[in-house]
Amino acid sequence: MPVISFANAKGGAGKTTAALLLATELAHQGHRVTLIDADPQHWISQWHEMSGALRNITIVTEVSVASLQCHLREMASSSDYFIIDLAGARDALVTTAIGLSDHVMIPVQGSAMDAKGAAQILDLLAFMKDKAGLDIAHSVVLTRVTPVVTTRSLLAIKGLLAQRGVNVLNTPIGERTAFRELFEVGGTLYTLDPAKVSNLDKARENSRALADEVKRMMPMRVVRSGMPRILSFNRPAA
Ligand SMILES: Nc1ncnc2c1ncn2[C@@H]1O[C@H](COP(=O)(O)OP(=O)(O)O)[C@@H](O)[C@H]1O
Ligand SMILES: [Mg+2]
Repeated sequence: MPVISFANAKGGAGKTTAALLLATELAHQGHRVTLIDADPQHWISQWHEMSGALRNITIVTEVSVASLQCHLREMASSSDYFIIDLAGARDALVTTAIGLSDHVMIPVQGSAMDAKGAAQILDLLAFMKDKAGLDIAHSVVLTRVTPVVTTRSLLAIKGLLAQRGVNVLNTPIGERTAFRELFEVGGTLYTLDPAKVSNLDKARENSRALADEVKRMMPMRVVRSGMPRILSFNRPAA
């Protein structure tokens, strides 16, 4: 059960949106997802209150540095994927969550290249590798990409990050009304009304491509629950 966290030290980078898209898409595809709301602003929890119970999604609210690892341990057998939404900070909870992650996704806005917040997370990852020998896989995910952001400029960003040895997901997240709508009305891209939300099919296609790419990178670990071996002794009949 891979642990995927979304981090960028800056607020407004697109973390919560990206985390929610990935979580709801994986759940839609039949995977059991535990979505951990580790942002004190509780956007995910508010979304969940609006949405009500959703198949394959469990929400954990009120996480602390002390409790995070317990949640991961306790829910490991009932979760195929953990997704952690983090605050736009570089604090103890962010550092702890990153340390417990199999992969850190760093959303970066394709248009504005909010490089500072992303760079702080990249620096933190480098620091953890140097000082603690923790080599945590990570990728930048370009988000809020509009048609104005040309393929050329996206390639330039990718090239720049590649020089630093940073992987960039092939699937950018587009700037879409449907993604904003999720936080207005709750639910998922599959419960929104196509008659009311423009280009919902394109939005679904985008979130499917994102989840497919993540799944290829991080296949679910198949945990075989070793059946307790029952030794039977044939007792001679009394
Ligand atoms: N792909 C997107 N398409 C449209 N709006 C987006 C997208 N990503 C983020 N937003 C909007 O940008 C704002 C900040 O996004 P959010 O995901 O909350 O960022 P963060 O969690 O990093 O603070 C929100 O109003 C959100 O609706
Ligand atoms: Mg957020």
